[in-house]
Amino acid sequence: MTQKLAFIGFGVVGQGLAEIMLEKEKTLSEKYDFDFQVVAISDIKLGSVYDPKGLDLEEVLDMVESGVSLSEYPDGKTGWEPIKTIEESNADTIIEVTFTDMETGGPALDHVRTALKHGKDVVSTNKGPVAQKLEELQSLAEENDVQYKFEGTVLSGTPALNLALKTLAGCEIKKVKGIVNGTTNYILSKMEEGMDYEDALQKAQELGYAEADPTGDVEGVDAQGKTLILANTLMDAGLDLKEVEREGITGLTLEDIEDAKEEGHRWKLIAQAEKKGDGVDAKVGPEKIPLDHPLAGVMGPTNAITYTTDHLGEVTIIGPGAGKEETGYALLVDLLSL
Ligand code: HSE
Repeated sequence: MTQKLAFIGFGVVGQGLAEIMLEKEKTLSEKYDFDFQVVAISDIKLGSVYDPKGLDLEEVLDMVESGVSLSEYPDGKTGWEPIKTIEESNADTIIEVTFTDMETGGPALDHVRTALKHGKDVVSTNKGPVAQKLEELQSLAEENDVQYKFEGTVLSGTPALNLALKTLAGCEIKKVKGIVNGTTNYILSKMEEGMDYEDALQKAQELGYAEADPTGDVEGVDAQGKTLILANTLMDAGLDLKEVEREGITGLTLEDIEDAKEEGHRWKLIAQAEKKGDGVDAKVGPEKIPLDHPLAGVMGPTNAITYTTDHLGEVTIIGPGAGKEETGYALLVDLLSL
């Protein structure tokens, strides 16, 4: 059966997935029996188009690259808003990749709710809805006999959630500790090479690591949300965002970074969630760690998480934490698992 897909949002991450799907179309069909048609794209900036018979993905990507609105697409209906696209298109799977609003869930929350209520599976890298309403959305998915998958919300395509949920099934995760934001880790790495903060942030934005509003990255909100997702998904912590203590990297100066280097240390933005009694303590903040600590060697947009488990002790996963192809891939793995 051909899976009919609709993109809600078609920014860096959505385009990253589209490029992989084009490149791998034949393999996906032959190896995984995964045949797909993208029937709709609805993006606030790039325009929207819906054709129930399927869009030409290559043409869509060419239009986006040349700055032509998707509303100029030669066939189909144009101008459909996200909710109309979700409700009225013939897509059976919604790819939700609009901007993240960690504090409220943002419009993405309505997109995910609407899709699940309409019996459509959702794959998403959007952290807002998972951070704000995980329990509600999982219940909605169950009631409507569909799935809500969000591997890419933590460590982009590096399978951090799948590792803990599937491969470590049967283990109790007692503690999670790591580097979960690519932008800040990239900025700190560049500052250590002597680049100033503003230039490093600009470069992180150009490379597609930062959020649409990078304040959330540098002030630790992105890492706070990911810590919450880890705690609630893997430890049933039932925490709210505000219960995860947060401090970003904006207080760190070039001098702090150089001083740490002289002492044989390195500043990292560390995320941590740990079971304590009946609850879970979770926090995010800069820590000066010794250079021989495993997390000290994790540089640039690379991220890492160490899971402390009952049967295996510590298990660490290291890999990309942000980026177009890297996050696009997370959606592919979710689609394949559907
Ligand atoms: N802005 C995020 C980061 C993107 O830098 O890690 C991936 O969630």
